[in-house]
Amino acid sequence: MNRKNIETNPLLETYKEYIEKIDNALNDELELYLESEFTEPLKYAIDGGKRIRPIILLLAAECVGKVDENTLSAACAIEFLHTESVIHDDIIDNETKRRQKDPFHIKFGYNTSVLTGDFVLGLILNISSRLDNPRITKDLATAAMLMSEGEAIEGLLEESEDVTFDDYVKVIEYKTATAFEMAAKLGAIIGKGAEEEIQALAEYGKNIGIAYQIRDDLLDWKNEDKLFNLLIKKSSDPRDVFNKMDEMLKTFSHLAESSLRKIKESSAKNNLENLIKFTEFKA
Ligand code: IPE
Ligand code: MG
Repeated sequence: MNRKNIETNPLLETYKEYIEKIDNALNDELELYLESEFTEPLKYAIDGGKRIRPIILLLAAECVGKVDENTLSAACAIEFLHTESVIHDDIIDNETKRRQKDPFHIKFGYNTSVLTGDFVLGLILNISSRLDNPRITKDLATAAMLMSEGEAIEGLLEESEDVTFDDYVKVIEYKTATAFEMAAKLGAIIGKGAEEEIQALAEYGKNIGIAYQIRDDLLDWKNEDKLFNLLIKKSSDPRDVFNKMDEMLKTFSHLAESSLRKIKESSAKNNLENLIKFTEFKA
């Protein structure tokens, strides 16, 4: 493993074993559609992701039970859902770079971007049919719906004159934290956790997801188009906004940590705790 790989994916150092399993499962999934027009574009789209959501799913399953073929299939569903949301988000945000490469829409065009999103939803339904568990299908559907809802609300707020911190948190809860929440929850369901464990892990996912997005926004503060830049414009002193963001980041990281209180000690739990460190922000 060379330095460059670790720089592009800091999770490789600790979670290499998981990432390899996930990447193999993603490739196997795409192998099912070798004749499809979408196989090559999707390979491009999944390349270079950090895989934080599927890692969370596998660790959550390990916390309460064990990882099997179904766990990996659900991990693929979550990563594909994320992939599809990134393709569309890059169009909405007019991005010109993603993972040091051309974003999907620049490489393949708008038509393929729209259609790949549709194809991916079908692919996820297909995975879900194999998992054969209505609760999982429902959670995947809810995730897809809330993520779109979050993007839509963000667009509306960007046009509005008065955005509040509560609005901002609602948007990131929907558009980003939903996928993290479902990742942890599905892992716990497939791992046959007790209901209390499923809820605790879902909470963990939601809180780490919010912290993750706050950090991402802080890192990208120069981007004028970001929702939180509207909060900066509105304030009399930008430092107040940064301080508030920093404070919220700490709050949600702590909440993520305390959500794990009801989970029994294990190396998987330590790994979930460790992941929270990736949401730390050093200015
Ligand atoms: C990017 O997510 C979009 C956000 C919700 C912040 P990631 O940072 O997980 O993107 P990849 O998949 O690792 O590139
Ligand atoms: Mg966006």
